[in-house]
Amino acid sequence: MSRFLVTKCICHSREFTDIKQYAEEHGFTTVEELQSEKFCSCGCGLCIPYIDLMFETGETEFQPGAFYKNSEH
Ligand code: FES
Repeated sequence: MSRFLVTKCICHSREFTDIKQYAEEHGFTTVEELQSEKFCSCGCGLCIPYIDLMFETGETEFQPGAFYKNSEH
């Protein structure tokens, strides 16, 4: 298990906790809605599957590649 956790959109310097709060305040439930406001996920896109997981689970810290493990179920 890695000690490194994925906790932010690096390109926008936004923590998933802040992204989650923003989404809740605006009633957003998808990455596309966040992108349309250019709040996050408009750069490299590496954060997108983690933000999908955030919407799915409510969590804001993830093991690297957590979305692969999640998709096995
Ligand atoms: S880390 Fe979010 S767009 Fe690059």
